[in-house]
Amino acid sequence: MALSWSVAVTRQIPEAGLSVLQESTTVKIWEEKLPPDEVQLRKLLAGCDGALTLLTDSIDGALLDSLPRLRVVSNFAVGYDNIDVNAASERGVLVCNTPDVLTNATADHTWALLLAAARRIPESIEFVRAGKWETWDPLLLLGQEVSGATIGIAGLGRIGKEVAKRARGFDMRILAFDPYEDEAFAEAHGVAYVTLEQLLEESDFVTLHVALTAETRHLIAAPELDRMKSSAILVNASRGPVIDTEALVAALRNDSILGAALDVTDPEPLPADHPLVTMPNCIVVPHTASATVQTRDRMADLAARNLLAGLRGERPPASVNGDEVLNR
Ligand code: DGY
Repeated sequence: MALSWSVAVTRQIPEAGLSVLQESTTVKIWEEKLPPDEVQLRKLLAGCDGALTLLTDSIDGALLDSLPRLRVVSNFAVGYDNIDVNAASERGVLVCNTPDVLTNATADHTWALLLAAARRIPESIEFVRAGKWETWDPLLLLGQEVSGATIGIAGLGRIGKEVAKRARGFDMRILAFDPYEDEAFAEAHGVAYVTLEQLLEESDFVTLHVALTAETRHLIAAPELDRMKSSAILVNASRGPVIDTEALVAALRNDSILGAALDVTDPEPLPADHPLVTMPNCIVVPHTASATVQTRDRMADLAARNLLAGLRGERPPASVNGDEVLNR
């Protein structure tokens, strides 16, 4: 069968998505470990009808202008801040993403980070590996109690809600800040909506689950960090630039907050000698919140099905600008 569509995949992805694409398109894959740079990306996408992109690929109007054949950009992520969606809509290019399939994995990982920071797990592992474990000690590696504490969730969307559900298992007081309030969810799950200021002032754990937009860039900067309790821990599994990195380094250095646990940073990656990586009161992992075998398979499958549906002119299972582009 002649495979009439040509698509580019900008990195190796799970077979679960690749095989879906290979059934009905000709697939070009970027085989390198590191992402293509701007020039390489343009070259890879040249002549393609669709692209399966990653959050490390920057897709803007200038790039789209150089790719007149490109009709669908299917991002292998729920976040799509790497794509200029307005520019894509203006050019009739459909943008898709992978919501829902990664919600549980990301919420679970948020809890892994929160607990690891609260109970000083990385430091404890390091302590044992360094041969420092001599005896049981009443004052050794004391952390913060999670059960019964107050958690503040900034961004009560799909992932924030799953984080809230898990918090109930720890008998926590749950505060949330989100401009779009879901009263039914809040009532059913014991969540109190508050202002960001109140959330910062009253929470023992502050966890961020907002999309990165112009409004949320540096949502947490020096004034917000100043409002937090000195015993509080900040968790970020959203996007790095939601936190002002320099302000966070200062807050951790001055002990104005107790600790941080970051799945995402600004920039990414952080160099190994960056203060956030070397400080004992900060945990950094390499943007792996959705990294389970099962979730990455589902993301690959959904991204591939989005791409194919878009190429066929159908409404994809998950599109960002379907209403604008498909109703033109
Ligand atoms: C996303 O999907 O936006 C995550 O950051 C990666 O899974």
